[in-house]
Amino acid sequence: MKDFWTILVTLQSLLSLAFTVPVPDKLNVRDVRAISQSDFDTISLYEQYAAAAYCPSNFNGSVPALVTCRSNNCDLVQKAKAAAIYKIAPNSLTDTRGYIAVDNVNKLIVVAFRGSETVANFLANLLSIFLTRVDLCTGCQGGSGFWISWTRNRAQIIQQVKNLLNNPARQNYTVLVTGHSLGGAIGNFAAFELRIAFPKTTVDMATFGAPATGNLIFTSQLSKQDRIRGRNFRVNHLGDPVPNLPPIRGFTSVTPAFTINTANQIVPAPKDFTMLEGASALNPGVTNPFDFMPHAFYINAISACFVTPAAFVANITLPLKFTYGSEYPQMEASL
Ligand SMILES: *[C@@H]1O[C@H](CO)[C@@H](O)[C@H](O)[C@H]1NC(C)=O
Ligand SMILES: *[C@@H]1O[C@H](CO)[C@@H](O)[C@H](O)[C@H]1NC(C)=O
Ligand SMILES: *[C@@H]1O[C@H](CO)[C@@H](O)[C@H](O)[C@H]1NC(C)=O
Repeated sequence: MKDFWTILVTLQSLLSLAFTVPVPDKLNVRDVRAISQSDFDTISLYEQYAAAAYCPSNFNGSVPALVTCRSNNCDLVQKAKAAAIYKIAPNSLTDTRGYIAVDNVNKLIVVAFRGSETVANFLANLLSIFLTRVDLCTGCQGGSGFWISWTRNRAQIIQQVKNLLNNPARQNYTVLVTGHSLGGAIGNFAAFELRIAFPKTTVDMATFGAPATGNLIFTSQLSKQDRIRGRNFRVNHLGDPVPNLPPIRGFTSVTPAFTINTANQIVPAPKDFTMLEGASALNPGVTNPFDFMPHAFYINAISACFVTPAAFVANITLPLKFTYGSEYPQMEASL
């Protein structure tokens, strides 16, 4: 497992020397300081659904089951008594995990993807340095690992969402696609395809610390769907290096980008957000590309449910040192 990290980090640092980073799409740039309370509340709820995707009880086990977080970082979800009705079955290639849940309080059908946790997930990240054809739109390309992670699960997920929307009581529900890190990258393809599959349904997308996912043709089409097919909330924490990965020419990110400008471990308020529309700019404030601490804290400790075999953690040393406690908030990462 250590080898995967070493390869990933070495490769990324070599590539960052060899290539320049993405072409920002500077059309119609709108820079907004502070977001509305309503957007803040929405982002906070959506972030907790992404956090819940890290808890094994939500992606493993039988359905239906209430979505809960042993890490105490999804109280809004627990209050809504959201019920998972489908759990993404493990598959040996990319080990994509997550769940589909119904929230009758906020009238949501939630499709949540877990971030990187296993060797197979890191393999998916690695494979994502290559762009591949994405069959959702003409000329569209996406990171191969992210795209494979979606295509291996797309049929089942679309069918489950369709079954849920077929109930007339849910005809006005919003479909939410959410995820942190790798989960957010997969979410880009999921949201795009669900918007095609369910043209009468609002499909919101929320990503937290997601890497760049595709070529400019793909991300600009996804960006154009914002507020037409649903909201695009691409949320980044100041200093999180992951949104600037992979550092390869041709990779771009969807907009608008919402940046949380608070220091690590500080719970943000609406005034702490900036929104940048129409530009797939780099995430600001990254002084140390190997400091993953800002990646682990968004509105709360988003990946606190992360479970990793102790041996795996203990053996990650240079150039990274990760010390994840099994429970929130004992989490620490440093050089
Ligand atoms: C998932 O459930 C299976 C079967 O109950 C169990 O063997 C496995 O350890 C669980 N995985 C996690 C990550 O909890
Ligand atoms: C959905 O919205 C439409 C239009 O506002 C309304 O007429 C209908 O009653 C709503 N359906 C449900 C199940 O709430
Ligand atoms: C971790 O490192 C120790 C000491 O180098 C080694 O004995 C052990 O097998 C390693 N464990 C794993 C899971 O790689």
